[in-house]
Amino acid sequence: MISRRNLIKSLGVSAFTLPALTSLAHPSKEMGELDPADPDFWKNVRDQFSLDRHTVFFNPGTVGVMPKVVVEKMTAHLNYTAAHPADWAYQDDNKEEFISGYNNLMSFRTKVASLINGTAAEIAMTDNVTNGMSYIANGLTLQPGDEILTTDQEHGGGQSSWKQKEKRYGAVFKTVAIGKPCTNSTEVYDKINQAITPRTKVLMLSHLISGSGAILPVKELCAQARQRGIFTVLDGAQTIGHIKVDVKDIDCDAYVGCFHKWIGAPPGTGFMYVKAEHLKTLWTSVSSYRWDDHTDEGFRFTQRGTGNFSVLKGLEAALDFHFELGPDRVYERIKFLGKRLRDGLKTLPKVKSFSPAEESMCAGITVYNIEGWTGADLQKKYWAEARMRPRSQGNEFGVRHCTHIFNSEEEIDKAIMLVKAWTK
Ligand SMILES: Cc1ncc(COP(=O)(O)O)c(C=O)c1O
Repeated sequence: MISRRNLIKSLGVSAFTLPALTSLAHPSKEMGELDPADPDFWKNVRDQFSLDRHTVFFNPGTVGVMPKVVVEKMTAHLNYTAAHPADWAYQDDNKEEFISGYNNLMSFRTKVASLINGTAAEIAMTDNVTNGMSYIANGLTLQPGDEILTTDQEHGGGQSSWKQKEKRYGAVFKTVAIGKPCTNSTEVYDKINQAITPRTKVLMLSHLISGSGAILPVKELCAQARQRGIFTVLDGAQTIGHIKVDVKDIDCDAYVGCFHKWIGAPPGTGFMYVKAEHLKTLWTSVSSYRWDDHTDEGFRFTQRGTGNFSVLKGLEAALDFHFELGPDRVYERIKFLGKRLRDGLKTLPKVKSFSPAEESMCAGITVYNIEGWTGADLQKKYWAEARMRPRSQGNEFGVRHCTHIFNSEEEIDKAIMLVKAWTK
């Protein structure tokens, strides 16, 4: 049996330690004193990524960037398992880290629990948001005519398992138009609240809409739904590592998220949180030995057949990186850069924003277009002239521009200058 400490030792990987990074920037400063605009500190953070210096990445909303330490930990583990498969004694799946999919992954679930203020028992590890949402939709029993209420701006990975519920079981999939841009959180709340009927059984919402960057008033909506006995599930594909998520404060029944966008973990890493009272009655969609063993509900869903432990080693490093950096500091920096971009674009008359005008509804995602342009036009132009990579949102909605801790103020200002020049 190999303990985690021995394994790490045998891999010869040094951990990323933020105190070292901090003292590089400011030998005299404590972590808490750093501000979101501190250039030395954020330059040091950027140096933790092996990002090509000749290109600028603005699309972690699709797939994020792994810090160097994540790649190191993952590849070291991969090499280890390739060289030493015989070390695996098959004695204790929960301790021997060779494959995932049979183990309870408690250390991971505990880290995720502390990130979102849940408990490890209520968390299952998944591969992505689509899996998690499908586990929830397929695990609940709905009757014909039961309504699933959501917005008109959901991602296919969040809404499709509910649409299938409609086609297969006669449930009703109902969407509310919330506007793009949506005006303010009160209006969004009212629109969704007014669409609730006595038949509504599930309220499924993106916590943060991927196509506009709008943070929805989920806490208020979940409170309203709870009073009416409606099951609430939030799609957190765009929130984890981007904005603060506190499932106890929101008081939703379920929350699904991934780590391969804003946390910088390897692709294929996610989780599902379901309140204990609901988790115990949820059916598993992917079933193995534990499918009906209720001694550890999170394990029942985490056990889903052979998976790649090296990827989880990368996830572990990404979570540690995030915690060492300080989640609040990360959220602040992301928002600071996003706001800088929005403020700059606001001064340009031919630019139309599809992100909310209410700044409290925004963080690191900004969606905008130039009058008469398509998203593809803008995406191409950014690449041709500046090797910058935001992502097209189609003909009408221009591009989605995600700002993250590896971006700099100079990159944001350059993007604004380019748009200014194109709109002259
Ligand atoms: C809001 C939202 N939901 C779901 C998904 C799908 O996520 P995953 O690929 O992790 O299943 C995405 C991906 O971009 C998304 O933005």
